[in-house]
Amino acid sequence: MAEIRRPDDMARINTPELADAFIEEQVRLIKEQVGDKKVLLALSGGVDSSVVAALLIKAIGQQLVCVHVNHGLLRKGEPEQVIEVFKNQMKANLVYVDATDRFLDKLAGVSDPETKRKIIGGEFIEVFAEEARKLDGVEFLAQGTIWPDILESEQGIKAHHNAGGLPEDLSFELVEPVRILFKDEVRVIGTRLGLPDNMVYRQPFPGPGLGVRCPGAITRDRLEAVRESDAILREEFEKNGLAGKVWQYFTVVPDFKSTGIKDGKRAFEWPCIVRAINTVDVMQVTVENIPYELMCHITDRITHEVPGINRVLYDFTPKPTATVEYE
Ligand code: XMP
Repeated sequence: MAEIRRPDDMARINTPELADAFIEEQVRLIKEQVGDKKVLLALSGGVDSSVVAALLIKAIGQQLVCVHVNHGLLRKGEPEQVIEVFKNQMKANLVYVDATDRFLDKLAGVSDPETKRKIIGGEFIEVFAEEARKLDGVEFLAQGTIWPDILESEQGIKAHHNAGGLPEDLSFELVEPVRILFKDEVRVIGTRLGLPDNMVYRQPFPGPGLGVRCPGAITRDRLEAVRESDAILREEFEKNGLAGKVWQYFTVVPDFKSTGIKDGKRAFEWPCIVRAINTVDVMQVTVENIPYELMCHITDRITHEVPGINRVLYDFTPKPTATVEYE
């Protein structure tokens, strides 16, 4: 099948009317392509896969099988939201796999960043392939490929991570209903399909998840400290009007301890680093000027509410010299 490309003169989808027209056309095309066959989708809960899921549910309902793999490195509340939105509200055919132990056992003692990424990526494909083999009659694989993915892989900037990766015995025809769209258009479509704002407008989140924010060898207790401190930071940014304004913000808990005092006793615990950045192209990044009082409040909450943390530090480093993530 010839690869579908974005027409040069295609109008930017930025109104509900344009979104509705796109949705209607895609529903027709998906039905035409798929017929009465089953379609499989790895649903991470990120913007692109969520919008693809919502589109396919509208087009083919129960013929779509969504697989949500929880690798144990997701943010607080994420797997629960995927289940709530897709299974409970949209009545999707959703397989939820809690593979936390599998991932964390494989990652135990591994401190090299690239090896960690490879383990997470490889294990993800393995878990997903195992689920795919359990299903009968699946002929299609849906993917949240978007237009910048195609352009960047053509220009050799980055390998288009959506394409392929599955073992050879699992060969599916691809269904890529948002492949000619830019990210902002995908969000407009998602909103029209009824997805919640915090799913459609969520900040970027790396595939290896909190794993890259728990530098060095991941331990369950330090990972939990990353997850809990991240949840507090997000809550405070939302409450204080920074959530829609700051491009990306998160916490990192490095693998060293320092002396502190808690409840009058010596507390030898980890620091928590807060990162909050703005960017247009992610090649260059500036650091957000967080109000001093808010930073003090966040520090107070994290040091008192998150077990194992006795200090909070703010990362003032732009990119370059630092990258956004720590690994
Ligand atoms: P860096 O650390 O390279 O991050 O300055 C730039 C942006 O990319 C995100 N990022 C990733 N996204 N898979 C992803 O989908 C990944 O492995 C990955 N690593 C980094 C990062 O969060 C930032 O927005």
